[in-house]
Amino acid sequence: MDGVLCLRVSQSHAQKFRKCLQAEGALDLSLCLLKDSDDTVLLPILTSYLPQLDLPSLTTMVALDSACEVVWSQSPLQSKKGRGRTSGNKLEKILQELLESHGESWTEELRGDLPRSFQRHGDLVLLGDHCFSLPLWKKLDQQLWGAVAKGLGAKRLAKMSRICRDGFRSPMVTMLLGEHNWVKHMDNGISYEFDVTKCMFSAGNIMEKLRVAGFDCRGEIVVDLYAGIGYFTLPYLVHAGASHVHACEWSPDAVEALQKNLVANGVSDRCTVHQGDNRQLQLCDTADRVNLGLIPSSEDGWPVACRLLKRTSGGILHIHQNVTSPLPNAAAIPAIDDATQRISGKKADREVWQAWADDTANRITSLLKDTTGAAWTANIQHIEHVKSYAPHVHHIVLDLECRPS
Ligand SMILES: C[S@@+](CC[C@H](N)C(=O)[O-])C[C@H]1O[C@@H](n2cnc3c(N)ncnc32)[C@H](O)[C@@H]1O
Repeated sequence: MDGVLCLRVSQSHAQKFRKCLQAEGALDLSLCLLKDSDDTVLLPILTSYLPQLDLPSLTTMVALDSACEVVWSQSPLQSKKGRGRTSGNKLEKILQELLESHGESWTEELRGDLPRSFQRHGDLVLLGDHCFSLPLWKKLDQQLWGAVAKGLGAKRLAKMSRICRDGFRSPMVTMLLGEHNWVKHMDNGISYEFDVTKCMFSAGNIMEKLRVAGFDCRGEIVVDLYAGIGYFTLPYLVHAGASHVHACEWSPDAVEALQKNLVANGVSDRCTVHQGDNRQLQLCDTADRVNLGLIPSSEDGWPVACRLLKRTSGGILHIHQNVTSPLPNAAAIPAIDDATQRISGKKADREVWQAWADDTANRITSLLKDTTGAAWTANIQHIEHVKSYAPHVHHIVLDLECRPS
């Protein structure tokens, strides 16, 4: 496995999360926690604890306004034994020497402009947005990136700026050092390769990918409406044993990576890639299961998912959605203690998810009736909490079993 399993939490709640995780026996005590970018902290957790990790309960225990997500950290978390010999220290030392050789002296301002976190994809380190912004670095020219790569133990370097709003969710990544842009990411025994300047790796979906890997889809035809580079398509094929997956994707860059990944994982003979807008998909009456992995909402894909389900036997839809709970009206709530507030917050969130799921089930039932002319029933099998984006904004997956009546 590549990287360290971590819980990313806000800095202000980090100590409370740490205490809760430690009390549950989930914290990896051999590793130090790591300060991440944007005022977040990474807490190392034990892989063996993952199946029991209940994020909604954890956030409720910590604070009503807390949020957390499980990530594979590619940044090296320092071993407690090796304290003091961090790559950060090494980088700082190398850059200090380089600057001094150019007649410049080291300052606190320069130290503050070093990367606080980064993603590691094999021999490539992907730096975040908020580092090396001071004009003085330019003086070092290309020597800077050679030194940074050495300090971080990498051969190639790239820098991320922001996510484009072009519908393809592409990261704005520029190569700083290195010959080519392709990286390889290992996750749960699956190899994902992609061009780091053209596609992004959705690390935040790790829990859902593991859940999908645990499904038994033998004998099933699955359609993945938003396949990307194969985040869910690959677990369906490699671990869940699906007979065939139809993978829909409109970004040519993602399709290129997806096709490579199908071959690299030895499953290309069980997958058909449909390049283009999934709303134009010609398939129908085919699927035992449809994955609708798009947030904030996959609603645009609901009509096509209904067309895809097998008319005689139906199947299961996995519908992703960001659901927002209304903020409690403080004035309307009588004075109650923190713990009571947390429990009622958790209950309120679950009620909002249930209401969204009930409404979705009704809407899917009528879409199915409109599509097929027959009556259907939709049964809510499960509501999965994937991650919290912000206080009161939760990424949810609804498993909806749809059968003709
Ligand atoms: C954020 S990725 C999701 C990938 C994966 N399901 C995940 O959650 O990590 C969404 C993918 O859907 C693709 N996409 C969005 N709308 C689409 C559409 N109408 N037809 C085909 N692909 C689409 C995007 O290009 C992107 O690669």
